[in-house]
Amino acid sequence: MKILVTGGLGFIGSHTVVELQNAGFDVVIIDNLSNASIEVLDGITSITKKAPEFEKLDLRDKLKVQVFFEEHQDIDGVIHFAASKAVGESVEKPLLYYENNINTLVYLLQELSKKGNSNFIFSSSCTVYGQADQLPITENAPVKPAESPYGNTKQIGEEIIGDTCKVYNELNAISLRYFNPIGAHPSAEIGELPIGVPQNLVPFITQTGMGLRQELSVFGDDYPTPDGTCIRDYIHVVDLAKAHVVALQRLLKGANKANYEVFNVGTGKGSSVMEVIESFERVSGQKLNYKIAPRRPGDVIEAYADTTKANEELGWKAVSTLDDAMASAWKWEQKIRKK
Ligand SMILES: NC(=O)c1ccc[n+]([C@@H]2O[C@H](COP(=O)([O-])OP(=O)(O)OC[C@H]3O[C@@H](n4cnc5c(N)ncnc54)[C@H](O)[C@@H]3O)[C@@H](O)[C@H]2O)c1
Repeated sequence: MKILVTGGLGFIGSHTVVELQNAGFDVVIIDNLSNASIEVLDGITSITKKAPEFEKLDLRDKLKVQVFFEEHQDIDGVIHFAASKAVGESVEKPLLYYENNINTLVYLLQELSKKGNSNFIFSSSCTVYGQADQLPITENAPVKPAESPYGNTKQIGEEIIGDTCKVYNELNAISLRYFNPIGAHPSAEIGELPIGVPQNLVPFITQTGMGLRQELSVFGDDYPTPDGTCIRDYIHVVDLAKAHVVALQRLLKGANKANYEVFNVGTGKGSSVMEVIESFERVSGQKLNYKIAPRRPGDVIEAYADTTKANEELGWKAVSTLDDAMASAWKWEQKIRKK
């Protein structure tokens, strides 16, 4: 079976391509390389020993998307990662985010709705929950007003898919609400490649560990959490990639209970910023330079998933520990700096 992976050279996409190929799927990747390097293709190929098909294409080009689907009528499913993802940048450039994250989704759904039976997996995010009233967060927790245009594109994206599935019965879709993906493939052939100053905690930590950044700022240590720092649900990117494979298989087997479903993808365990730093220090054997800085406006205090639905219905469970993920992120950072 052939699966289209949009954004398949990006962080989560590349790991998912590996797991799809390992599970026996043929993969065609679309990526415009706006936030990825073409060398990722070599990384994927060196792990799986099979080069995925690749098409450099900007999904904002509706005509090219149409032509792509005309030329690839054998696609059995689509996993849609391609999007812009920097929260801060989305506040500065909202229209870029609405165009890149919403238009591309609409163009893909338009093509799929022409096809008859089709299967679609969407990269959503736990940001849709904001600061949830109850922890752990279940899929039934209310969606809170988005804090940024980026977050809003995920909420609107989910609504667009839901509305589309209501009228196109042959379109089967799943939104996966990721918690905080971290780490890299254990081979260190692929990993996260942040451009410029990393927006996320773990690449900032590993770059600080390598001496590329002077010190990490821990934003706030006076939150109402056990050690005063914010808590997130950090999931190893390989576990997250595998969740896509099982979600896709659910659709391909027709095992879905409705033609649009939503699943949390996390570990179910919250870790504080200090615990992540301690984990880094354990796996790297070195102390991290960090300072306590004032709270950042808009930061959610605590978020971790209730993963019961994914565990029971997808038969999927995250297996890697925080230390496993941090060790893989550190190995990857050392490898790319050597390069
Ligand atoms: N990384 C996270 O923490 C996180 C958390 C929740 C949800 N998500 C979502 O998961 C998805 C993947 O995230 P990621 O971390 O792998 O990001 P990423 O930036 O590494 O990957 C996205 C890929 O899409 C490509 N792309 C972007 N716009 C495109 C376009 N118009 N046409 C073709 N290709 C395009 C980029 O070049 C990149 O390779 C995104 O939708 C993101 O919003 C990510």
